[in-house]
Amino acid sequence: MSILLTRYQKTSVAVRLGTTIAAVTLTVAAVVYSFPADAQSQPSRSSWDGIYTLEQAARGQAGYSVACLSCHGEQLDGFDAAPGLRGGRFLSSWNGVNLGDMLERTRITMPLESPGTLSRQEVADVLAYILSMNGFPAGEGELPRQTAILRGISFEAMQP
Ligand code: HEC
Repeated sequence: MSILLTRYQKTSVAVRLGTTIAAVTLTVAAVVYSFPADAQSQPSRSSWDGIYTLEQAARGQAGYSVACLSCHGEQLDGFDAAPGLRGGRFLSSWNGVNLGDMLERTRITMPLESPGTLSRQEVADVLAYILSMNGFPAGEGELPRQTAILRGISFEAMQP
């Protein structure tokens, strides 16, 4: 099995958060990925295969409440500059991306004001919660925290 090579490019994005932090401008490192067009590296499982457990999603909800809710909203609908993490736009922007890249991007860039402060396990748990809120089925096994394993799982917006 070949391994996906991921190239990270940092782009500076100036994001202004209006209300509370009125005059503060934050520079965000956005991560851009490129994927080799290699058929052999196609993930074998998808987000529809029961890839997390309900217990894990509950842990993720607790973590989300502490680290993410203030910007992305209680119902994951987004707020101000922070995009929603649920529904149409979210599903289409991540469609076809593997869960490994999803975890890495989230871990490296979020929470916006203190990126990299969550452990892989905490980010995997929050992703489980986000999956549950997007209607993906829970299953018997937890979403792993290892990027290499997560690269074998594809985020698919539409049920196959
Ligand atoms: C201080 C506000 C803030 C906090 C806290 C925050 N985010 Fe964000 N988040 C943003 C903003 C603004 C963006 C859009 C800019 C970007 O993508 O870097 C974003 C983008 C994202 C994206 C990309 C969405 C997309 O579809 O492009 C994900 C995923 C995400 N955040 C997850 C999280 C998670 C998980 C947490 C908690 C661990 C979190 N964020 C905490 C402000 C925040």
